[in-house]
Amino acid sequence: MDSFHFKGRSLLSWLDYTDGEIRALLNLSVRVKEEGKTGKVRRRFAGKTLALLFEKRSTRTRCAFETAFGEEGGHPVFLSAADIQLGAKESLEDTARVLGRMFSAIQFRGFKQSTVETLAACSGVPVYNGLTDSFHPTQALADIMTLEENCGPAEGKKLCFVGDGRNNVARSLMVICAKLGVNFTIVTPAALNPDWDLVETCAPLSAASGAKIRFTENTAELEGADAVYTDVWTSMGEEDKKAERMELLAPYQVNPALMAKTGKAGAIFLHCLPAVKGEEVTADVIDGPLSRAWDQAENRKHTIKAIMLATLDCL
Ligand code: CP
Ligand code: NVA
Repeated sequence: MDSFHFKGRSLLSWLDYTDGEIRALLNLSVRVKEEGKTGKVRRRFAGKTLALLFEKRSTRTRCAFETAFGEEGGHPVFLSAADIQLGAKESLEDTARVLGRMFSAIQFRGFKQSTVETLAACSGVPVYNGLTDSFHPTQALADIMTLEENCGPAEGKKLCFVGDGRNNVARSLMVICAKLGVNFTIVTPAALNPDWDLVETCAPLSAASGAKIRFTENTAELEGADAVYTDVWTSMGEEDKKAERMELLAPYQVNPALMAKTGKAGAIFLHCLPAVKGEEVTADVIDGPLSRAWDQAENRKHTIKAIMLATLDCL
């Protein structure tokens, strides 16, 4: 870790981190998980405070930040949008300045990517994106960690995301896969392809790493996948699109027949959770022997702890 400069940095998306830095955080996550399992948790966040700002609901992200920070002696403070001035009555810039005077770091989950960017620009402390409409970077780190636990080094592996290809989770996976050389295929109707801007941003990254980033409507392209990943068809804030998505995405439900298209009996199933069983995935797949969704959820805590240890210089 010594050769990297993480101190004081925010995590808004993986676009701001090099492949080497992401690899170092993955290695640290593995170490942190091992420490957790062997009772070697210390008090590395003692004397530190963390503001947890939530405009949208959360189970895993909130609990991962709170438990990771709290069990090492830090003091996390949960603040929902109903509790504080978050662009209401006071500018976001002013809120950020004040929070930066009282907290060692800030986590934000909400709608706009610009909100997390403003918090980072004005608070003077590390800001972690705990999900926006655009990105969910802490999730993607846990996803790659889980892939590696099951399939070995991620580089050169084939990860297929099936479902809403333009959502925050698919976009974050595209960036991290492009950086790390993971072959990433988004299987989605053309209407739900990710924004062209992000595709163009990722093109030189994948050219450098050797990652093959593809989009297809054709589920036959799941062939050879080491892991099949899906997410809800209707993300938070898009509830009005539910009927449209149900129709568009029905052929993309991850069920045993779709998993069989990988041609690999051992291909694992991944889901960031929460899941709507019977929509994007059937219960027999997500609750079945090849599902690693629950390990993924646990790995949120280890990866988030690693990100905070590095950026708060608490190693
Ligand atoms: N995967 C994830 O971010 O879960 P929560 O919405 O429960 O935080
Ligand atoms: N795409 C989902 C992810 C939830 C963790 C959403 O934004 O609701």
